[in-house]
Amino acid sequence: MTKRSVPKKLFVLSALTGFLLSLGALAFAVDGGQVQGEKCKDCHAATVDAFAGNVHSKAGAYGFAGAGCESCHGAATAHAASGDPAAISNPAKVDVEAASAGCLNCHSKGKGLTLWHGSIHEAQKLACVACHKIHGGNDKLLAKKTETELCISCHTDVRADMFKRSKHPMRDSSSPSGEGKMTCSSCHNVHGAKGEKLISANSFNDKCYECHQEKKAPLLWEHSPVKEDCMTCHTPHGSSNDKMLVAKVPRLCQQCHMQGRHQTGALGPNSTYAVNRGCLNCHSQIHGTNNPSGTVLQR
Ligand code: HEC
Ligand code: HEC
Ligand code: HEC
Ligand code: HEC
Ligand code: HEC
Ligand code: HEC
Ligand code: HEC
Ligand code: HEC
Ligand code: HEC
Ligand code: HEC
Repeated sequence: MTKRSVPKKLFVLSALTGFLLSLGALAFAVDGGQVQGEKCKDCHAATVDAFAGNVHSKAGAYGFAGAGCESCHGAATAHAASGDPAAISNPAKVDVEAASAGCLNCHSKGKGLTLWHGSIHEAQKLACVACHKIHGGNDKLLAKKTETELCISCHTDVRADMFKRSKHPMRDSSSPSGEGKMTCSSCHNVHGAKGEKLISANSFNDKCYECHQEKKAPLLWEHSPVKEDCMTCHTPHGSSNDKMLVAKVPRLCQQCHMQGRHQTGALGPNSTYAVNRGCLNCHSQIHGTNNPSGTVLQR
């Protein structure tokens, strides 16, 4: 043994001890030594073999040899000797907060994770393992094959929106996974976000501008609700109206324009102002225009 290896081993032990103590709620004593993955293999061969291809195993993040099973399962000597499942911790079965704290020990800085505390998913008592399956092998260790599939397993109303006539391309029936050009995380940061509704931008509009840049430019004649909030007229996920509108034209317009120089409210079914695309036949530049004579959004 070289002189240098002693402090290194001590450091590793104290790091491991600190980690396990932080899992206090798991109530497993640190038993003073690690159990190698090889030992676990005696009884969990398939799990150990599969773990060799896992990002956690590859990262070698634990600072100690072996597969590092104990970094998530706690002290394992007693269990490895007896095979008694009650003598080992399974993060999927312990208290949610304790289980997540174990993950956050290493993942305090990942995508959005600094905002995990206080986020709606945390408040709703979702554990990390509600969405991640460590021994599963999916991309990002997700509990379902695709991200979209994972999210809509709980958010069934969004699933319904995705099948409506007009929608964002989140679903692609021709792709083997069913995943489309966009996923939920094109707009949301599930771990936490500064903005409302877990939107990964300062405002809803800023998020929309990321892909619909042309709607951001300042215009000579603006339609004031547009720069205020796109969601006044659009739904984000899908709608049975054209262009993901919250209501059909002219009803949409009539929510704000009841009285005008021409009739806008209480239109008969055959009114010039209501038929076909109604208001949009004439007011086609609904988001605003730079045309000098475009005051009423006609050109
Ligand atoms: C002597 C055989 C044996 C050894 C060695 C062994 N286990 Fe187990 N383990 C079992 C049995 C039996 C169960 C219960 C049945 C099952 O889940 O497969 C179990 C269950 C578990 C569970 C699930 C507990 C639960 O309540 O859901 C975990 C986690 C676990 N073992 C981890 C480990 C780790 C990590 C090692 C190596 C440090 C290890 N085991 C070594 C036999 C063993
Ligand atoms: C990064 C954390 C982490 C590491 C490292 C880890 N596990 Fe797990 N393990 C979990 C979680 C979380 C579960 C709950 C089910 C899941 O998410 O897959 C679990 C579940 C289990 C189970 C219960 C049966 C099952 O698959 O659900 C066994 C057995 C097990 N692990 C063995 C091991 C062994 C052996 C190692 C080392 C080779 C190991 N684990 C390393 C997090 C981890
Ligand atoms: C509501 C579901 C959900 C919950 C709960 C959740 N995650 Fe995630 N996590 C995801 C999704 C989806 C991704 C992939 C995001 C992407 O690709 O942009 C991800 C990605 C990650 C990544 C990879 C980040 C990267 O930069 O690629 C880590 C690490 C992670 N999660 C850790 C955690 C931890 C730790 C917790 C618990 C504190 C947790 N997650 C809770 C859904 C979830
Ligand atoms: C001992 C430290 C440690 C613990 C504990 C730990 N992880 Fe990790 N995890 C890592 C490292 C290191 C990586 C790979 C490097 C990286 O990208 O962060 C990683 C990667 C990941 C990824 C990204 C996978 C990918 O494909 O990009 C996810 C998701 C993740 N961990 C979730 C979890 C969850 C959930 C838990 C708790 C059950 C957990 N981790 C516990 C250290 C840890
Ligand atoms: C295990 C169930 C579950 C999964 C999986 C899940 N969520 Fe949630 N989510 C909830 C619950 C519960 C709430 C709070 C109640 C509600 O508003 O529906 C919530 C709320 C939300 C909100 C509303 C935020 C707010 O401030 O009102 C968004 C956005 C969201 N989830 C996005 C996602 C995305 C994206 C995914 C996939 C990466 C996902 N969720 C996966 C259970 C889940
Ligand atoms: C184009 C960006 C975008 C995409 C992609 C997106 N969302 Fe949203 N989502 C939003 C916006 C914006 C809101 C806020 C709407 C509002 O409050 O008017 C929202 C609200 C939500 C809410 C809370 C309100 C509600 O409708 O219940 C949930 C839950 C949600 N999204 C889940 C998801 C899931 C799951 C996916 C993937 C299947 C997804 N979102 C994809 C932009 C998006
Ligand atoms: C990640 C990129 C992205 C973001 C962010 C985004 N969109 Fe889109 N949007 C698209 C794509 C791609 C299409 C489909 C374009 C096509 O099919 O030609 C689309 C189409 C649309 C359509 C037309 C739908 C139809 O039926 O023709 C509307 C309306 C729309 N988006 C509004 C919004 C709003 C409002 C936001 C902000 C909440 C937003 N988008 C955020 C990429 C994005
Ligand atoms: C006052 C209501 C209203 C507001 C607010 C609004 N839109 Fe629209 N949007 C419409 C209408 C109506 C259509 C359909 C136009 C048509 O079919 O000619 C449309 C169509 C679209 C389309 C598809 C056609 C195109 O012009 O590319 C996109 C993308 C779009 N809107 C994005 C946005 C974004 C991004 C915002 C916020 C910056 C926004 N909208 C705000 C009413 C609105
Ligand atoms: C959320 C409320 C709201 C909705 C919905 C809305 N508008 Fe507007 N619209 C306004 C406001 C506010 C103004 C600016 C006030 C003003 O100058 O009269 C405006 C201005 C206009 C103008 C220019 C008026 C002028 O005198 O310069 C036209 C034309 C117009 N809207 C048409 C429409 C049409 C067509 C729709 C439906 C597709 C619609 N609006 C939906 C609030 C709304
Ligand atoms: C046949 C073409 C046409 C249709 C259809 C039409 N408009 Fe107009 N609209 C105009 C013209 C032209 C003006 C300018 C009138 C003027 O300055 O006297 C105008 C002016 C307006 C104005 C601004 C002046 C005012 O009246 O306050 C609003 C708001 C408006 N329209 C809303 C609507 C709405 C809402 C609809 C659908 C219910 C609609 N328009 C349908 C041609 C049309």
